[in-house]
Amino acid sequence: MKTLIYILALSSILFASVDLADSATCKKCHPIIAAEFQSSMHKKSSIYDDKIHKAVWDKHPAKAKGDYKCAKCHTPNATSEKAQHEGITCISCHTIMSVEKHAKANKNIYTKKEKTFYSAEVGRESEKVEYKKVTSWWGNKTTVGSAYHDIDYTNENYYNGQMCMGCHSHKQNSHEFSVCTTEEEGAKDKESNCITCHMPKIDGTATTVRLSKQHSFHGFAGARVNPEMLSKYVELSFASSTKGFEIVVENKAPHNLMTHPLRVVQLKTTLIRRSKQTGLKTHTFIKVIGKDAKPAMPWLATEVVKDTMIKANEKRVVKFNEVLKSGDKVEVVLGYFVVNPKALKKLNLQDEKELKVFTILKSKYFTVE
Ligand code: HEC
Ligand code: HEC
Ligand code: HEC
Ligand code: HEC
Ligand code: HEC
Repeated sequence: MKTLIYILALSSILFASVDLADSATCKKCHPIIAAEFQSSMHKKSSIYDDKIHKAVWDKHPAKAKGDYKCAKCHTPNATSEKAQHEGITCISCHTIMSVEKHAKANKNIYTKKEKTFYSAEVGRESEKVEYKKVTSWWGNKTTVGSAYHDIDYTNENYYNGQMCMGCHSHKQNSHEFSVCTTEEEGAKDKESNCITCHMPKIDGTATTVRLSKQHSFHGFAGARVNPEMLSKYVELSFASSTKGFEIVVENKAPHNLMTHPLRVVQLKTTLIRRSKQTGLKTHTFIKVIGKDAKPAMPWLATEVVKDTMIKANEKRVVKFNEVLKSGDKVEVVLGYFVVNPKALKKLNLQDEKELKVFTILKSKYFTVE
């Protein structure tokens, strides 16, 4: 069991001289979480660390006016250009008190209490931990809570995923058209939500001060980083008949399999008969936004031009006309491109090798009986 009270002489060294806006401070007592966070897209959300974000921003009409409107979500705490390099910080998330709903985009309401961080921990839902030093009856100085900050465990938005929805819910452009949406459904339930899937509990202590077996993964598994951690939420199954066969792709996520309009998902199928391999038709799943029935940049888009994306909790049946024989094998690969290959050139990203990679989310072999 985790214990609240621990003896800590060290705390006094750190307590006095820390600056709230400095994420490097958190690293001193939360090194595992801080290291994971370094590789996440939240850390790399600025134009300095995300080439895709920069490429779209470079084309955006607001750039000429120097009006970086993306800051609200991509660099929420930056008050200077230097701070923009930080991207989204530990504090950006842990001080969100509530999320206000708006048509254009939701808004994070941050707490004004200094050095109070919200968090979630099963069994402590009603606790507010204020740092204090107490003198125990045997005379030792002991501390309660974190030596650096207070913690408020009572905010339910940290249990059901609502705190993610200030930035992730939706974004409308100036034509009142929603360029991207993540369904509210995924941020309602305490057992399964944005946090449980994208920040699963893994081994390693959450703080070096008070050891715990596990912590919530802060690398934020997603399309760009650690997608393999999410592959268990996608199932591939197979059924053969006298007319052909079908592959079923089941998306267990409560949102579109991919949410960003730049993504392209593909299902690649290979028939292996004795030693001969035949590539069958590639199926593409995509949501294209645009104008006048043609693809367009997000700030120009007024309509959905095409939408074959696999939806929230959908089981998509993909039919093939090839009649299979006993002993045949079928290899099925489901993967994606983070940037639609057709948009690479338009965004001046054609030379970025890592953005041309087809990332495999799930693959499976089926053998015909
Ligand atoms: C001096 C060490 C120290 C520093 C620096 C520090 N923390 Fe902590 N933090 C702790 C300790 C100890 C706990 C566990 C307290 C407890 O369980 O009562 C904790 C707990 C937390 C929790 C809640 C964990 C839970 O149990 O759910 C969050 C969130 C958190 N810290 C965020 C931060 C952030 C963000 C920063 C940097 C701005 C930071 N901490 C800096 C020591 C520190
Ligand atoms: C309301 C919050 C919000 C605002 C404002 C916002 N974004 Fe984003 N953006 C997000 C979220 C959340 C994601 C990740 C969601 C996803 O992948 O579906 C994202 C992802 C992106 C991506 C994909 C990055 C990648 O890793 O492939 C691009 C490009 C992007 N945004 C561009 C912009 C630009 C340019 C602006 C400003 C003109 C902007 N965004 C403003 C929330 C926002
Ligand atoms: C995108 C939002 C977000 C960012 C950024 C973020 N956290 Fe968290 N963090 C959360 C949420 C949500 C939880 C609660 C998850 C749970 O335990 O259910 C959490 C949990 C924690 C905990 C509790 C212990 C545990 O179980 O892991 C600590 C400590 C913590 N965060 C520290 C940090 C530090 C340090 C940083 C920066 C290096 C950071 N967080 C950045 C959202 C965030
Ligand atoms: C049941 C698990 C599950 C839940 C719950 C869930 N997701 Fe996902 N999420 C996935 C899977 C699976 C993918 C697709 C695989 C990937 O991106 O690597 C994904 C992808 C994403 C992506 C990247 C999409 C892109 O186009 O770049 C974002 C952003 C995201 N989820 C945010 C959220 C948010 C916010 C919530 C809560 C409202 C949420 N997810 C709830 C499983 C889940
Ligand atoms: C302050 C705004 C903000 C908050 C709060 C926030 N996100 Fe994000 N998130 C973003 C932005 C912006 C991006 C896109 C960064 C980029 O690719 O440039 C993103 C990207 C992601 C991705 C995609 C990562 C990848 O590898 O493709 C996932 C998954 C994700 N967020 C999950 C979450 C979860 C879960 C929460 C709540 C615990 C959350 N986010 C809270 C702004 C936010």
